[in-house]
Amino acid sequence: MQELLSAQQIATGVAQLAARLDARFAGQPVTLVGVLDGGLVFLADLIRQLRLPVQVETIRASSYRGATQQAGELWIDPRRLEGLAGRQVILVDDIFDTGETLERLREVAAGWGAAGVCTAVLLWKRARSRAGRAPDDYVFEIPGLFVVGYGLDYKGEHRQLPGIAVLTHQGGDPARLPPST
Ligand code: IMP
Ligand code: MG
Repeated sequence: MQELLSAQQIATGVAQLAARLDARFAGQPVTLVGVLDGGLVFLADLIRQLRLPVQVETIRASSYRGATQQAGELWIDPRRLEGLAGRQVILVDDIFDTGETLERLREVAAGWGAAGVCTAVLLWKRARSRAGRAPDDYVFEIPGLFVVGYGLDYKGEHRQLPGIAVLTHQGGDPARLPPST
């Protein structure tokens, strides 16, 4: 594995994102909705950098990936989140890859009665995101490689790494992802 982002770089970037959110949502009622499991570590760090008074919720979403290459069927927790009426909802996730998960969640969240819904991610694989899709805010743009650590997993492993690393094949080549369609 090759380190792409150190724990220190992530901490600095997360603090900068927190400052942007503090400024953008000052005076408004905000609820952060963390997307489990991958968004867990990012959510925990982000909320502790915010000065805004916020409420925190979580929702589960998973896209089954047997291989690192392909996103599979997307499953979203059908539970309706309560108490969001009139609040600004920030969907917090580890990564915006094709954008499928967060764009689908955004549609689901529209039914929760929130005053507004936006997305904030740690990583954005811009080149793989489908046309017209982008997170509202992000910390780092990264190339189309499969990464692990800081909450991101490969088959359930490596979530506890403090930094972000590129998963490499046995020969040492990075696991490069094909452009998404
Ligand atoms: P989407 O393609 O934007 O819907 O991303 C779907 C989900 O795939 C993300 O929330 C992650 O859980 C996972 N994912 C995408 N790229 C990576 C990666 O490089 N490493 C680990 N998980 C990833
Ligand atoms: Mg995820």
